[in-house]
Amino acid sequence: MREPIRIGVLNGPNLNLLGRREPHHYGTRTLAEIESLLRERADAGGTSLIFLQSNDEGEIVDWVQANTGAVDAWLVNAAALTHTSVALRDALAGSGRPFVEVHLSNVFAREPFRHTSLLSDLAIGVIAGFRVSSYLFGLEALIQHLRGSAEAEAE
Ligand code: DQA
Repeated sequence: MREPIRIGVLNGPNLNLLGRREPHHYGTRTLAEIESLLRERADAGGTSLIFLQSNDEGEIVDWVQANTGAVDAWLVNAAALTHTSVALRDALAGSGRPFVEVHLSNVFAREPFRHTSLLSDLAIGVIAGFRVSSYLFGLEALIQHLRGSAEAEAE
């Protein structure tokens, strides 16, 4: 039987305001709605999720360190920290766990400072611009990646 996959879903600064924050960029779903859609998908595939949203870089780094042993991978929307945080980059690298970077908006169609990510080169891949679906595609991609690695190991 397959082991259940465990994924840590990390949301950075200001994503607690989803639903009312710049809906032209981020859509109208709240973070709670996004989390429950993710949970529905995850439950259907026997995947377990843990969630964090924080506006505090230090709290996010602490959470990654504290939960590394409890997850197989991360699904990360680091929000503004994507473009600035060496500390988060180092925490994710140090965890040794693969991750997918997601963004609700198409960061490449926005201001130039959003075109740089301190995370992307470490990520399995990046999904941006599909609003809430970015998370759902990201979850799917992570699961496929982890199942693929497990099958390759078993061969
Ligand atoms: C974001 C894009 C970031 O540039 C921005 O700072 C965010 C959200 C997105 O999901 O589109 O807060 O990560």
